[in-house]
Amino acid sequence: MHVRDLTLTNFRSYPGASLTLSPGVTTLLGRNGQGKTNIIEAIGYVATLGSHRVASDQPMVRFGEDSAIVRSTVIRDGRESLVELEIIPGKANRARLNRSPAGRQRDVLGTLRTVLCP
Ligand SMILES: Nc1ncnc2c1ncn2[C@@H]1O[C@H](COP(=O)(O)OP(=O)(O)O)[C@@H](O)[C@H]1O
Ligand SMILES: [Mg+2]
Repeated sequence: MHVRDLTLTNFRSYPGASLTLSPGVTTLLGRNGQGKTNIIEAIGYVATLGSHRVASDQPMVRFGEDSAIVRSTVIRDGRESLVELEIIPGKANRARLNRSPAGRQRDVLGTLRTVLCP
């Protein structure tokens, strides 16, 4: 399984960011506070619909914005799945799997599985 694409909109420090990743190991290099952990948090959010850092959604939305979007294409056994999550503090978050609205947000759980070693 690998995360091939990750696109962030108003997620934490990122107004917009788009990454394409290869199978295997990816190392994020950057200054303190540059946004490395924010990317790990976004990938973790796709996997768990939660954050390893905070208990509520608001801190994940860029300061001054109303909502954040995390989009990820996950490759598993040669098949790709597109997970799109909209984080809207104070309202119901929205989730789409392969461009169809998920009946329940948690229907996207299991598409991506991650292990976090703090
Ligand atoms: N909700 C937010 N809106 C805007 N910037 C944020 C938000 N949350 C965190 N940041 C910024 O993200 C940066 C921290 O990013 P982080 O991924 O933890 O850095 P690092 O590269 O050290 O892991 C800080 O500059 C912080 O101000
Ligand atoms: Mg960090």
